[in-house]
Amino acid sequence: MDSIATDTSATNSSHLPAPILTLPNVLVRPYHPQDAASIATSANNPLVARYMTNAFPSPYTLSSAARWITIALTPPISHFALTLPTSPTTVIGGIGLKPGFDVHAHSAELGYWLAEPYWNRGIISAAVEAFVAWTMLERLDVRRVWAGVCGGNEASERVLGKCGFRREGVMREHVVKGGEVMDLSIWGLTRGDWEEREWERRKMEPESLSGEVNIT
Ligand SMILES: CC(C)(COP(=O)(O)OP(=O)(O)OC[C@H]1O[C@@H](n2cnc3c(N)ncnc32)[C@H](O)[C@@H]1OP(=O)(O)O)[C@@H](O)C(=O)NCCC(=O)NCCS
Repeated sequence: MDSIATDTSATNSSHLPAPILTLPNVLVRPYHPQDAASIATSANNPLVARYMTNAFPSPYTLSSAARWITIALTPPISHFALTLPTSPTTVIGGIGLKPGFDVHAHSAELGYWLAEPYWNRGIISAAVEAFVAWTMLERLDVRRVWAGVCGGNEASERVLGKCGFRREGVMREHVVKGGEVMDLSIWGLTRGDWEEREWERRKMEPESLSGEVNIT
């Protein structure tokens, strides 16, 4: 599949909200109502939807995208658009947190997706690493970030492993999607895990850290 054409997106970036994360290969920024067209283009792919919950529709239409933007812009904002730094008006993916409730309120579920043309370029690994740091620094009530990964989604498991998440267990046959029964592996990273990882990283790469992640 070719890269996504920029003519499906808003053409002028001056109205866009500022990124929360500026990384060499991806920007993480709040959504904007004008993102609907590029979201629909990027998300309307059964291969992207395959391991997502049914909240990520397939087919993914313009009105699906408009509905999602309304949800994502409801405070406190916890869901963000991903764009290439060279094309901030074109949404190529998403990343976000779903806070737990009741006794799970300190735990936030991480979710992410990326348009197929951009897979395997390290984009989500970079976004997850930096977004977890943002979460730990900006959402002080979050003690733990976790993700559930459907059996067969090796790329997602690889991302989480690279970002310091531990594979904590498997909920067997927990997911049925489109008639397919799948296990769900649970991956978690506690605040303590993250602090330890940051400490080790700072010891190993003191200079490369400065300027690598711009949390605004
Ligand atoms: C999962 C997903 C987000 C990964 O995004 P991405 O930007 O391509 O991920 P990255 O490039 O940062 O890392 C992918 C890693 O998985 C590896 N990988 C890809 N396909 C793989 C496979 N079939 N088996 C094993 N490893 C695989 C890549 O080689 C890479 O590892 P490396 O950096 O060590 O080489 C993307 O494929 C996607 O959007 N999938 C559909 C939606 C989805 O599944 N979301 C997650 C739900 S839990």
